[in-house]
Amino acid sequence: MPAQSVRAVVLAAGKSTRFKRKKSKLLSKICGREMVLFPLKILEKFKIPVALVLGYQADEIKEIVEKSCAVPVDYFLQHERLGTGDAVLCSQEKWDQDNILILNGDVPLLTPEIIEDLLTRHEQEQATISFIATRMINPTGYGRVVEENEKIKIIEEKDCPEKFREINKVNAGIYVIKRSFLEESINKLQKSSVSGEFYLTDLVALASDQGLKVQVVLAAFDAVRGVNTLQELWAVEQVMRSNLIKHWMNNGVRFELAQSIHIDIEVEIGPDSFIGTGAHILNGTKIGEGCFVAAFTILENTTVGDETTIHSHSVIQDSRIGNEVHIGPFARLRNNVVIADNATVGNFVEIKNSSIGSKSKVKHLAYLGDTTVGKNVNIGAGTIVCNYDGFTKKPTILEDDVFIGSNNTLVAPLIIGKGAYSAAGSTITRDIPSGDLAIARARQENKAGYAKKLKNKKIISKAESVSQLECKKKDNLKFHFLGAVKTSSVKTGSVKTGSVETNGKSEDRL
Ligand code: UD1
Ligand code: CA
Repeated sequence: MPAQSVRAVVLAAGKSTRFKRKKSKLLSKICGREMVLFPLKILEKFKIPVALVLGYQADEIKEIVEKSCAVPVDYFLQHERLGTGDAVLCSQEKWDQDNILILNGDVPLLTPEIIEDLLTRHEQEQATISFIATRMINPTGYGRVVEENEKIKIIEEKDCPEKFREINKVNAGIYVIKRSFLEESINKLQKSSVSGEFYLTDLVALASDQGLKVQVVLAAFDAVRGVNTLQELWAVEQVMRSNLIKHWMNNGVRFELAQSIHIDIEVEIGPDSFIGTGAHILNGTKIGEGCFVAAFTILENTTVGDETTIHSHSVIQDSRIGNEVHIGPFARLRNNVVIADNATVGNFVEIKNSSIGSKSKVKHLAYLGDTTVGKNVNIGAGTIVCNYDGFTKKPTILEDDVFIGSNNTLVAPLIIGKGAYSAAGSTITRDIPSGDLAIARARQENKAGYAKKLKNKKIISKAESVSQLECKKKDNLKFHFLGAVKTSSVKTGSVKTGSVETNGKSEDRL
């Protein structure tokens, strides 16, 4: 069926009552994408224009859609949650094609193939309504597809009599309906006496009772799982994540413990790369070929070149990493960090909004902020760039071949010229010209023999305090001895201590 004769209506106005959270389920992310965007992405592929029905948290949902959707979307507001039939009616103004494709907004695993199949068969069969059904082991919560006496109807869970409850063929919430029939029939829907809602699904019985063609197209349950509860959200994400991991495995990516990995939809991983246990590979991340991403590392919106190693527990966001780079363990890179080829960023290093030139090293316990580091630079352990004076962020430039000794404090703004050195423990507050050495620390003074004197002094004072302590102990013992004798004589005149019977005499072992 040509997409030109189809208009889509996506239902996303519901209150997500069964979700039991303040946020609409349609805003919940599944592998990094908000649920409401899944049907829209499929429609985008077929270039089918969309009418989106919103209600609960309409503004928040609209904002997400505007940001990420390329297909034209018309928005409609359902003022009261009166059911799916009422929600579709709200979009009537835009029923501008011969066929109206209606999608529940909470079926995120749906595939373009299923939609294509539905539209093709709808046209081939010249059906009035075609809808997707599936079979499931436990149909609780879904509308049952009841076929009897050559008639078909959908009975909702809440309204379902006992005799139909066992039916495991259920409605998936995806329909294509001839516009003419929809226009004639939508106002004929009756409120359910059980729930007070107008059910879109009642259109099936209305068509069937008139002898019009209703076609059921079967799909696999996994592809049409609905999300009403947090448990269903979890299940859907499990399926999606597992599909993504299978896709990357087929492209030569080794996952150390695949079931422990979080992976988003919008990522790329090159062949021969290794992803360690518990890693998070989040939206906007592109990993090159032959990379090693160790356990519990988080990469978000970050590009990694080829043959790069990122050791465990590193967190890297919004950054670009070159080829054959070593990072971590426990490194933190954020806010536009660029690391050139063959550079090394070691453990407990934080880098923000900075670039590191090729073959440069910042290996241990450092912070670099708003810093431009040239090639072949060595930054010693414990170096801190003081980029913030409490008011503004200031830049620091380290030109090629600079050597920063350990435990330096670099107070921005600074330019450290090509090949310059700074001595360990320096606080650098002025630029260092190219080729110079800066020493900026208190000058050392040695006091001859003072350590020995100090040691002797210590020994003497220790001996004194030990003898004072001994005296104190003796006094305490005396006191204890007398006290015990006194107690025994007062109470009984004799006391049992250890195995020796006493009469308060001096042989008592107290
Ligand atoms: C619906 C179907 C059920 C089907 C199931 C498949 C109806 C009456 N029932 O049930 O047969 O088995 O989907 O997953 O259609 N919505 C609105 N306005 C409303 C109510 C709902 O826009 O007043 C939206 C929701 O945001 C949601 C979609 O419609 O995206 C479906 O609503 P939901 O309440 O989840 O329907 P189910 O009970 O799952
Ligand atoms: Ca649902």
